[in-house]
Amino acid sequence: MRKKILSIAIFAFTFLNVNSQTPIYLDESKPIEERVTDALSRMTLQEKVKLCHAQSKFSSYGVSRLGIPELWMSDGPHGVRAEINWNNWNYAGWTNDSITVFPALTCLAATWNPDMAAKYGKAIGEEALYREKDVILGPGVNIYRTPLNGRNFEYMGEDPYLASVMCVPYIKELQKNGVAACVKHYALNNQEQWRGHINVELSDRALHEIYLPAFKAAVEEGGAWSIMGSYNKIRGQHACHNDLMLNKILKNDWKFDGAVITDWGGCHDTKEAALNGLDIEMGSYTNGLTSESAFTFDDYFLARPYLEMIQKGEVSESTVNEKAARILRLIFRTAMKRNKPFGSVATKEHYDVAREIAGEGIVLLKNEKRGNKLPSILPIDGDKYKKILVVGDNAVRMLNQGGGSSELKAKDMISPLQGMRELYGEKIKFAQGYMVGRPMYGREDKIDKNVEDSLRAEAVAMAKEADLIVMFGGLNKNHLQDCEGGDRTSYSLPFGQNELIESLTAVNRNFVLVLLSGNAVEMPWVSKVPAIVQGWYAGSMGGYALADVLSGKVNPSGKLPFSFPVKLSDCGANAFDSLAYPGDSINEVYKEDILVGYRWHDTKKIPSLFPFGHGLSYTQFKYGKPQISSSSISNGEKLTVTIPVTNIGKVAGKEVVQLYVGDEKCSLQRPVKELKKFSKVNILSGKTVDVTFTIDEDDFKFYDDRKSEWVAEPGKFKLYIGSSSVSVPVQININYK
Ligand code: BGC
Repeated sequence: MRKKILSIAIFAFTFLNVNSQTPIYLDESKPIEERVTDALSRMTLQEKVKLCHAQSKFSSYGVSRLGIPELWMSDGPHGVRAEINWNNWNYAGWTNDSITVFPALTCLAATWNPDMAAKYGKAIGEEALYREKDVILGPGVNIYRTPLNGRNFEYMGEDPYLASVMCVPYIKELQKNGVAACVKHYALNNQEQWRGHINVELSDRALHEIYLPAFKAAVEEGGAWSIMGSYNKIRGQHACHNDLMLNKILKNDWKFDGAVITDWGGCHDTKEAALNGLDIEMGSYTNGLTSESAFTFDDYFLARPYLEMIQKGEVSESTVNEKAARILRLIFRTAMKRNKPFGSVATKEHYDVAREIAGEGIVLLKNEKRGNKLPSILPIDGDKYKKILVVGDNAVRMLNQGGGSSELKAKDMISPLQGMRELYGEKIKFAQGYMVGRPMYGREDKIDKNVEDSLRAEAVAMAKEADLIVMFGGLNKNHLQDCEGGDRTSYSLPFGQNELIESLTAVNRNFVLVLLSGNAVEMPWVSKVPAIVQGWYAGSMGGYALADVLSGKVNPSGKLPFSFPVKLSDCGANAFDSLAYPGDSINEVYKEDILVGYRWHDTKKIPSLFPFGHGLSYTQFKYGKPQISSSSISNGEKLTVTIPVTNIGKVAGKEVVQLYVGDEKCSLQRPVKELKKFSKVNILSGKTVDVTFTIDEDDFKFYDDRKSEWVAEPGKFKLYIGSSSVSVPVQININYK
């Protein structure tokens, strides 16, 4: 309301005031830089400093004297978070802040479909507008380095190219609504343990090839208007005021013109904050989620202490001019943008978007034929079964709750059990099977062993009577699961689920396992389970989307955005001593270097359980003979490769055709192959679609840390084309001259 009145007032002031007295900064027809300069010229030093810090948990100051509005921010990244109190972390208890829960970003990444990312950004932007938010704290593009990271579910997987391609449309569509993205967490916040202080050491190659590209794409291609510094240190300096990361890379090299916002409580030093590229300080003296203090907003590092430092001449006033200019730009683009829609919340359109994205992101990991006679279990043919037993806490758990800052207050949340019941009616029986406890932040309920045993016994007894079992298990958003503020303590499935799966498959092999999680898990029972689905955290319409895929209404087309190692030590980050993960509590060294995810599995010849890019369909695709415009390419040239892909099954389906490039010989180590292109295509049964990729010199480049630049060395390269990082039936040799 506050903002609507303000914008109507500004509108009236600007357009009804016919004499040319309108100040430039209020005149939207003027270039933004002119408006910024004009506004700055009217502001006092105190007013400029005030722009640089919070006034409440989720808002920062405007310039009230000049009618320049405040900035209102909200988590992100999967929906607009419920209202939080002015200055503590309790929910405010409003009754108008229930929204659509969109699928978690791992699910979006698993669609491998940029159109889905665009729909996501547009819809979440509309919800943000209705909730009168100017900045959405997302998307998150930290790279999936280890399956133990409690926040992987908020990010877009292990591959820098996939995360780059998927984050750009989200940002563009969100910002079209006049709502800023705040891309997080810049950078190297790849674990939750000791996130507030761990000092990350890594090579320049790993930094530029693996951890930065998605942020770079967000800025250069997505045009992100704000970015959130991470909690951790990088090469000895906190990321929120880090000279290399903010001044040199972000603002100088990438020409970022927006504002750097701290993570909540990520600022630690006034002088560094003044000099090293921070613009807005939020949440100081909290750990981001729980702790409070008597520290007032005027005590913030970028508040009175900063003002005094400028007044004493210890830092130049030009520092605050630069920050204020960036913040004004952000305000003009969002809070002060007059011509923007009012948005909407939890509409049918948004639910449809949430369901479509979930349906495209769900990954069919395994769907084995049962002997020569029986077909695969999936899709479920309802006519065949009299009793379908749904098992699992995740079949009924509202997975919008917990997880930390991405927790959402859902207007509607369709559980998997409800989705299954609406499809199969009376045939569905339910047994909880295992127990988890309440969703809580920073602590967990202890589960009585007797309760666990009796729930398992009940499920096993019912399984004996059932014709088909569908178990919804996995992780959840509780402490030490997929949750902020702590990492998983084990790669194994928690809450006695391994034992439960063993017991259930021992009595009934008609078993489908749906894993809801944002992380890979160990699967010691994998050979006993004929069908496995990775269902992520699928959002408000998740129960319907899962039932759509299980029943075959939707043919699965999701592909893994990260590898599933067989065991934890098969993952690069976990293959070394504890200094590589989780660090010695002070420092952490990324010893696997550029070999993250499938780059590690490929190069070290350690097969994964399910590889990056993997995902089955209810149909099959055949890759035909490629046509290539030339087998050699030189600097500045382009080369096209066209590959016919045929749907040889009985139903229509979508395939993600993936192209990887491998450098056969290089003066520095390179992974066997790297994803460089992909395309998702819908192919009708019996039809063939030609997929064309265009390659240029950039696709052969690596970051040469001896020269601090991207370099392509002449020589032999190989293109690998196929349906996952491992299944690459088409291989073509290329000579780069
Ligand atoms: C999280 C951020 C979040 C912020 C505000 C922090 O603890 O790390 O991702 O946006 O809190 O809730």
